[in-house]
Amino acid sequence: LPVKVFANQIEASQRVARRIADIIIKKQENSENAVLGLATGVTPINVYKELIRLHREEGLSFKNVVTFNLDEYFPMKPDAVQSYVTFMNENLFNHVDINKSNIHIPDGNLKQEFVQAFCYEYEQKINHFGGLDVQLLGIGRTGHIGFNEPGSAPNSGTRLVTLDDLTRRDASRDFGGKENVPNKAVTMGIGTIFKAKEIILMAWSEKKAAIIKKAVEGEISSDVPATYLQLSDRVEFILDTGSASELT
Ligand code: F6R
Repeated sequence: LPVKVFANQIEASQRVARRIADIIIKKQENSENAVLGLATGVTPINVYKELIRLHREEGLSFKNVVTFNLDEYFPMKPDAVQSYVTFMNENLFNHVDINKSNIHIPDGNLKQEFVQAFCYEYEQKINHFGGLDVQLLGIGRTGHIGFNEPGSAPNSGTRLVTLDDLTRRDASRDFGGKENVPNKAVTMGIGTIFKAKEIILMAWSEKKAAIIKKAVEGEISSDVPATYLQLSDRVEFILDTGSASELT
């Protein structure tokens, strides 16, 4: 399993941003779209910062970029401060020349009866654009990727899921208390993630060391959904010394 350990998350994030920029540029040369699967949370923030810098200082254009985000809380209004729509706008989209109609984020604001059809359509849209060229992932302390919590099936698609208690506790700071964290989320499935041509999982700091050890070295099991990534030959783990500190 390809694991790369960097001295710190800035260097690692710059490397990941460079990889994404290279995909975008290569697609541009062929007049094609680059289809990016994106993540939220604190982990990818410095990747997005570097992409913004590449846009501002080195002329990287996002005109041919189509994005699909992994997940969104449910219920969640898109203009709420904690929404992943707000997160993506503030941390990336507002600062680059992406065409807003090329942005896709799971809708946390639907009536529950319409969610299943939305999820089906989300998968169809990814396929329509030729699939994800690259999927960025963080990892939760439950071992979730996207919001595929323990118990998720390896062939799962985009769907409404119930968040693990630990995930809600970890999110409680953003919501001013666990009781304010939504119970559910709409997330791409493990199967959706697996179809990406390239998967980059990032993790920083000692806080992630125990789950990274399980994800990389543990037995493959739905108890730790990230272990499924061991079955992919297109995945790369990008770590800092902290998150890698328990690896043997
Ligand atoms: C976010 C997502 C989650 C996070 C994970 C780690 O879109 O899908 O799986 O990547 O919860 O979160 P942070 O990066 O905040 O530690």
